[in-house]
Amino acid sequence: MKVLVLNGPNLGRLGRRQPEIYGTTTMADLSRLCEEWGAGLGLEVEVRQTNHEGLMLDWLNQAADDATPVVLNAAAWTHYSYALFDACAQLTAPLVELHISDPKSRPEEFRHHSVVTAYAAKEIVGQGIDGYRQALEFLSTQ
Ligand code: DQA
Repeated sequence: MKVLVLNGPNLGRLGRRQPEIYGTTTMADLSRLCEEWGAGLGLEVEVRQTNHEGLMLDWLNQAADDATPVVLNAAAWTHYSYALFDACAQLTAPLVELHISDPKSRPEEFRHHSVVTAYAAKEIVGQGIDGYRQALEFLSTQ
């Protein structure tokens, strides 16, 4: 089974971006880890990251067409993008919403709402990078 791991804005600087919140694992490390974890679970995993909302929407529309399961860390778009909400609504294969931190326990009010949750088969928050492994494990059982 193929799985897409899609990451939104500012996550390209993972490892260097606010390491006290997001840790020191880079996006390149994360890609390699997800591929390894996926291989161990019999999944073909592809990890992508973009700072461009339209590209993320194209990826999600393609995942809807192909019925591909998705692990989605939509980063800040999670909190306000109705286009993202509409894209998630179209998915038919399981969607896992993932955040490295726990947005609801952070001080900024805007992080307390997610447009993704309504369409997620599972929500994984605050688990750091291991959350991606947990998401892949969940999808491997679906
Ligand atoms: C995040 C949490 C979001 O609130 C934030 O905008 C991010 C990363 C996380 O992985 O913890 O960019 O999705």
